[in-house]
Amino acid sequence: MNTEDIRKIGIIGSGTMGRGIAICSALAGYETIINDISSVALDNSKTSLEKILSGSVEKKKITAEEKNAALGRIIFTSDFNLLKDCDFIIEAAAEDEQIKKEIFSRLDSICRTDAILSTNTSSLSVTNISTAVKQNTGRVIGMHFFNPANIMKLVEIVKGDFTSDETLNTTIELTQKLNKTPVTAKDTPAFIVNRIARPFYGEALKILAEGTSDPETIDKVMKECGKFAMGPFELMDMIGIDVNFSVTKSVYEAFFNDPKYRPSFIQKKMVDANMLGRKTGRGFYNYQK
Ligand SMILES: NC(=O)c1ccc[n+]([C@@H]2O[C@H](COP(=O)([O-])OP(=O)(O)OC[C@H]3O[C@@H](n4cnc5c(N)ncnc54)[C@H](O)[C@@H]3O)[C@@H](O)[C@H]2O)c1
Repeated sequence: MNTEDIRKIGIIGSGTMGRGIAICSALAGYETIINDISSVALDNSKTSLEKILSGSVEKKKITAEEKNAALGRIIFTSDFNLLKDCDFIIEAAAEDEQIKKEIFSRLDSICRTDAILSTNTSSLSVTNISTAVKQNTGRVIGMHFFNPANIMKLVEIVKGDFTSDETLNTTIELTQKLNKTPVTAKDTPAFIVNRIARPFYGEALKILAEGTSDPETIDKVMKECGKFAMGPFELMDMIGIDVNFSVTKSVYEAFFNDPKYRPSFIQKKMVDANMLGRKTGRGFYNYQK
């Protein structure tokens, strides 16, 4: 598949990442299909997308015409079969190996064999996910966007052990057409950014668990003295406590329980209590006010 042949992009998962990626795709002129198993998630995604694009019009980043044209290019659907004509797929569903493999196996059975199948996984092995695809495994690749996907420029392009050079080159070119900056990474647990970020969250959670300090103070210190754009707790709330916990668990397991990456009981407690951060209104901070 050449980049010029890509007309239709399919996005699976309409959560935090899927909706941001859909904005990039539609603004770059691609027909965009966004699929989710949850109709509530699709409704929320539609509302959020319209709000984000209206905000961009107010800030004069795009015109009202561009906003309307982008919205006109997006189809929201729970019908998986509508993805069958897509030239390029970006999977952004839950960070769960079994869920992703099942999705890739279904894509294998409905999509053309030259359609590129990418995953936005934060930490899982692209090579492992690609084993769910039997026809032309070389078309499976990692395409790791950052949150918020419509704003953050970086995309890690992860070459699995079976990924073909053609797939790699097309994915790099498409990333540029989406107005993003691609960097390539080998298929190792959590790639570059999330690997470095694990101890950032992990140490902050340990400091909190030990009662040394509170989220507000830790975030303030890291921003004012460390010059980070966001503190670890603000960032975890933005990512989603559930997503961050899944990523931590997968990296911990992938490195054979290296204590450096051990998850925190605080993460588990918050997931059990549905305190998932911004998306549920409560995380380390309260967003319901
Ligand atoms: N949140 C982040 O900061 C971030 C950043 C980079 C990458 N990621 C990765 O992106 C992916 C999605 O993360 P997110 O934060 O958007 O999660 P999210 O929980 O906000 O959204 C996931 C969506 O996927 C849907 N879904 C689950 N199973 C599905 C299936 N079988 N078919 C279709 N839809 C399905 C859910 O209904 C939900 O709407 C994960 O792999 C995550 O690791 C997340």
